Amino acid sequence: MDLKAQINLEKLPQHIAVIMDGNGRWAKQHGKIRIFGHRNGVKAVRETTEAAAELGVKYLTLYAFSTENWARPASEVNALMTLLVGTIRKELKTLMDNNIRLKAIGDISKLPSKCFKELNEAIEITKNNQRMTLVLALNYSARWEILEAAKTLAAKAKDGEVDPEKIDVDVFESALSTKDYPDPELLIRTSGETRISNFLLWQIAYAELYFTPLLWPDFRKEHLYKAIIDFQNRERRFGKTSEQLT
Ligand code: FPP
Repeated sequence: MDLKAQINLEKLPQHIAVIMDGNGRWAKQHGKIRIFGHRNGVKAVRETTEAAAELGVKYLTLYAFSTENWARPASEVNALMTLLVGTIRKELKTLMDNNIRLKAIGDISKLPSKCFKELNEAIEITKNNQRMTLVLALNYSARWEILEAAKTLAAKAKDGEVDPEKIDVDVFESALSTKDYPDPELLIRTSGETRISNFLLWQIAYAELYFTPLLWPDFRKEHLYKAIIDFQNRERRFGKTSEQLT
């Protein structure tokens, strides 16, 4: 039986998050410079987005550029930003044709102005699309996000808008950049690294983690299917015992 047919569509993760890793190593394996790996990573982005939407996944979040990535050589950062602008522009029609809404999390105001503008335009144009939401994490880090939420709530408490005693999980989540999305149930990381790297630390409290040695540019639809099948074979207990679930 083919992999797609093995997926139980009734038990799909609503939200999948992906740490796209291994572009640099993929380029090295092919004897090319790092940006060649990023360029080939775009194909994997397209395949993953298409496969997720076709299945009926509602949210897909991709870690495209972390706060820490600014520390890379300027030539790589510039090339990545150019690639982002170009990809958003090129894929806008596909997003519209497939009824996919584009969103972003992270401090996007610090992106180069061309990138910020292109991204905001695509977000505006796709805002009414309903089949799936594609969230790009750009200039994002979870610690930054949690600190921002803490600052927002502290300011509100100072102004008397929030009672500090009443800050619970729901109130805290309402200050996160992901407030409009459910928590990811499945987190995929490629390239064999088994780290979270400052990604959605709050939101993945109960996510199933899936690590694959594949390098991101090699990631295709069938690899997403495999990850979902693996997810569907796990017992998610949320702190309860196995017996309590049955
Ligand atoms: C990690 O590989 C990848 C990135 C930091 C960037 C991801 C960007 C893309 C796939 C391109 C465009 C994306 C979108 C959403 C349009 P790495 O460079 O850390 O690889 P390495 O660990 O092998 O060096």
